[in-house]
Amino acid sequence: MFNPLSNEVLRQLADEFGTPLYVYDGEKIAEQYQLLQSAFNPASTRFFYACKSLTNINILRLINNLGCGIDCSSINEAYLAIQAGCSPNKILYTSNGIAFEEIVAATELGIHINIDSLSNLEKFGARFGHSYPVGIRLRPNIMAGGNLKISTGHEKSKFGIPLEDIQLVLDLVKTHNLQISGLHVHTGSEIKDVAVFLQVARLLIDLIPNFPELKCIDLGGGFKVPYQDNETGTDLKELGSKTAEIQAEIQRKFGKQLEIWFEPGKFLVSECGYLITKVNVLKQSGQILFAGINSGFNHLIRPMFYDAYHRIKNISHPNAPEKIYTITGNICETDQFAENRALAEIREGDYLVFYNAGAYGYEMASNYNARFKPAQVLIENGTSRLISRRDTLDDLLRLQIL
Ligand code: LLP
Repeated sequence: MFNPLSNEVLRQLADEFGTPLYVYDGEKIAEQYQLLQSAFNPASTRFFYACKSLTNINILRLINNLGCGIDCSSINEAYLAIQAGCSPNKILYTSNGIAFEEIVAATELGIHINIDSLSNLEKFGARFGHSYPVGIRLRPNIMAGGNLKISTGHEKSKFGIPLEDIQLVLDLVKTHNLQISGLHVHTGSEIKDVAVFLQVARLLIDLIPNFPELKCIDLGGGFKVPYQDNETGTDLKELGSKTAEIQAEIQRKFGKQLEIWFEPGKFLVSECGYLITKVNVLKQSGQILFAGINSGFNHLIRPMFYDAYHRIKNISHPNAPEKIYTITGNICETDQFAENRALAEIREGDYLVFYNAGAYGYEMASNYNARFKPAQVLIENGTSRLISRRDTLDDLLRLQIL
């Protein structure tokens, strides 16, 4: 059930902190975590927040305080997780295509590691042998996810060790006496169909007998969240009860209790986030009515990069009769957020809000056109506070050698 912050709250925040502005509702993140907890209650699961979706340290702290682990895709994300107070045994590092030195750095932190290439697995074996438990990321050769760019499990994907190379994995395990503690697959983002997760689980179950020291099966992230009014997300209650069945089956067949891990990013932080922008210019061109806002793909790239749909609302004038708009940014490139979108009549200066902007919004923002990144505000325990300020001209020059 989508229950967004009210227009009034969003307007007040825009007035107070200026626009463009990212706003996050901490309570919504807690609510999503509770949903996971209750949906997966019958199973023994652990959740690691895929923090690439939003790495602000205040968000990491909030999520850590909820009891959730943190999944990192770079060593720097792992350092941020440590700085947020997350203990190493709650941090997971799922690398891809990275230099071996970064994996060594991850071992120094004592965090869980998933390795996604034979090359790094071999180096890991030669260096650590049996001494450091490690997970392997496999590629299941399954096409799933919202669009090709966010599908990672198919047979042309760079992610993971292709399933057909499993014998080579086993040879390395034997040669180096590797302690394989986890089998990992992340098939993609925005996977609605529960059957995809179960299909992956099946593939991994078949491999269990090869890895006697296994502690967990990690099914990655990718739960779908509804971006449009008529959409529904992944049925987590169903996935939760199927996960419990899978665990029972593993117990029955192999006599061991394996934890099932998940790495949700969008599910935890997409709906909590809002991007508030202001309309700079209205421009009529034949049939097209452009509303040009003080933002662009430098602040929210998902519509341009993935053709992603975000709900948009005019919160300054919400009850006006609707007109049809094309919403564009102010970047010196084609940066169209939406075409032919019905919105309450817009006046220059009105605030337009983008919903579901928490995940991969600010995180994928840039300073293109030497524009400032938006400020970020977190609402927690009934109060709103700045968790990162807007850039200044000094910030743009900070790394430059003058
Ligand atoms: N685990 C791994 C190993 C991943 O690569 C990802 C996302 C996740 C978990 C979390 O997936 P999620 O639950 O957030 O779907 N920028 C794109 C999404 C890219 C996802 C990359 N990997 C977007 O805005 O749609």
